[in-house]
Amino acid sequence: MKKPTIALTLARYGLTIAVVLGLMTGSIQIIRDFSDEKLRNQSFIQKMLVLSSAGAIQAAFQIDKSLAEEAARPLLLSDSITRVTITADRGVQIANLVRKPALQPIDHLTKLFTEPYELYEIKLIESKTDIYVGKLSVEVRNSTLLQDFYERSIRVIVTGILKNLLLTALLLYLFYLVLSLPLSLLTQRLNTVDPRKPEPFLLPSRIVQANNEITEVALSANHILRASQDYLRELANSQALTKKMTNQLRHSERLSAIGQLVGGVAHDFNNILAIILGSLELLENQALNERGKRLLSMARDATDKGSKLTSQLLAYSRNQPLEPTPILASELLSSMEELLQRTLGEQYALEFITSSGLWHCFADQQQLETVLLNLTLNARDAMPNGGNLTIEVRNTWLDLEYCAQEGDVEPGQYVCFAISDNGTGMSKPVMAQAFEPYFSTKPVGKGSGLGLAMAYGFVKQSGGHIKIYSEEGEGTTVKLYLPRYSQPVKANRPPELPRYLPPDFAGCCLLVVEDDPLVLEVIKAQLMEMQIEVITASDASTALDLLQQIPKIDAALIDIVLPGNLNGRQLANRLEAEYPSFRVAFMSGYTENAIIHNARLDEGVILLQKPFSRKNLALVLNRLFNKGNDPRGVQAVRDKS
Ligand SMILES: Nc1ncnc2c1ncn2[C@@H]1O[C@H](COP(=O)(O)OP(=O)(O)OP(=O)(O)O)[C@@H](O)[C@H]1O
Ligand SMILES: [Mg+2]
Repeated sequence: MKKPTIALTLARYGLTIAVVLGLMTGSIQIIRDFSDEKLRNQSFIQKMLVLSSAGAIQAAFQIDKSLAEEAARPLLLSDSITRVTITADRGVQIANLVRKPALQPIDHLTKLFTEPYELYEIKLIESKTDIYVGKLSVEVRNSTLLQDFYERSIRVIVTGILKNLLLTALLLYLFYLVLSLPLSLLTQRLNTVDPRKPEPFLLPSRIVQANNEITEVALSANHILRASQDYLRELANSQALTKKMTNQLRHSERLSAIGQLVGGVAHDFNNILAIILGSLELLENQALNERGKRLLSMARDATDKGSKLTSQLLAYSRNQPLEPTPILASELLSSMEELLQRTLGEQYALEFITSSGLWHCFADQQQLETVLLNLTLNARDAMPNGGNLTIEVRNTWLDLEYCAQEGDVEPGQYVCFAISDNGTGMSKPVMAQAFEPYFSTKPVGKGSGLGLAMAYGFVKQSGGHIKIYSEEGEGTTVKLYLPRYSQPVKANRPPELPRYLPPDFAGCCLLVVEDDPLVLEVIKAQLMEMQIEVITASDASTALDLLQQIPKIDAALIDIVLPGNLNGRQLANRLEAEYPSFRVAFMSGYTENAIIHNARLDEGVILLQKPFSRKNLALVLNRLFNKGNDPRGVQAVRDKS
């Protein structure tokens, strides 16, 4: 039910008041006019009586009835006089003329104010003798006299009421224009507003123009509405943020669980691979027939694959021992051009777009190369009939808004690698899962689903950001953002990779600390093959004792994970403290946090990652015994094959 409006309510009261006021003022007017009218009437009758008195005196004096009636008759001509009586001296009635008009409703009304009939009389005195001769009396019907008065009074009341009604209606209309209409316009406008939608709330122009109290109410409503919209927006944002953060938390919890699992597996698995690879390499020196050589090479390939798998999983779980260095993307791309073009094949066009003034980015070059290679392979697979692959590099600034939206990157300066293809593109569900490990749409045996997962883990561990833009049927762009290296870069950078020098370690004595007896045995055999004298220990305390007892030990190769009180790192620290010039290299299948801090390898650490080839072992030994004058002061050596 529609509620009565203010204007209607006011109209009801206003009309009642108009009628009552009209009646009251009319009544007061009537009462005042009535007494004036009555006085006028009385004097009129008196004058008539005086005028008729001469004939009446004569008739009364002579006691002549016909004369009396003649004198009385003119008085009856007056509408208001209903009876004329002339009485002679001693009460003899000589004339009694009557005129009875029909009773009218006005006679009843007259009763409200006065008697219906009134008697007026004058004494008849003979002027010469000054003798009383009788009296002349008339009966006056008041209603006749008051007829005009009534009519006038009703007119007064009716016009009074009408005037009041008109005035009230006018005031009500003004009230409607000034108050009711703007209020209902404002209500209508407010009713159409959905505070959840952040659209601007426009005030009706009529209200703005009025610039009165309603405008203020409207402005206040506007203010409240805006505040509530802001509040709802903030609420929605914070809900979205909470959801995002929950997802991120879940993701990082999952990553840390995977990381732990992968770390554990990598440690054991790489130890196993180290035994296999070491043994295979030792076997290579044996005289083998062709079949034996082929089997050996197959086994080597399998260990390479196994090693690559753990390294990809470690990269995904951000546990890779990274060695970031300043990289100039344009130089990196030129050095990779041949490899990438060979990977793609001839029916693919490869284009690099770089700009001048490119910043250096700070990342592990070897890992970055692997990521770029993986992305190139993905692009090639997405363009089975050939196509274009473009790698564009430019300086970029990721702003606060973008970072808040993405949630997993800090605002700042980055070098952006955009790898674009015009291949099949990805559907939304594929895009949503592309970074998941082991997610692949490729046939079994063609894709393991670790390429993008590894890229993601590497970029995140490097403090960067990665994003896929893809349109089904149009192509894909993967953007890698790597943090800018803002310190000055030495102009003459040494070549990127350590040189392999043929081993010449005769006379060197090395302490190998490794708890796994099989690994120890294989390493010992490999080292001995290189003419190195090997002393072995399976834990830190034995190693310390041996070092005290055997002064000819030149250096130590220490596994990071060791049983007992001291791990490999702590043992190295002790050795450094006790024998300052003593050199140490580490080996590990999984580096844990002992030699990695802030997602990168500690400064000055030489790391030999298991499983390692004879070549990599030699490189580390070169550095350890200061024989290879390792040109870049490399800290870790990894198998690039
Ligand atoms: N450039 C691309 N165009 C279209 N789809 C792509 C592209 N890159 C990745 N994808 C999709 O994302 C999936 C995951 O890619 P990812 O590189 O992680 O694994 P993979 O290429 O299938 O296997 P792997 O790289 O381990 O050999 C792919 O299977 C493919 O469906
Ligand atoms: Mg891939």
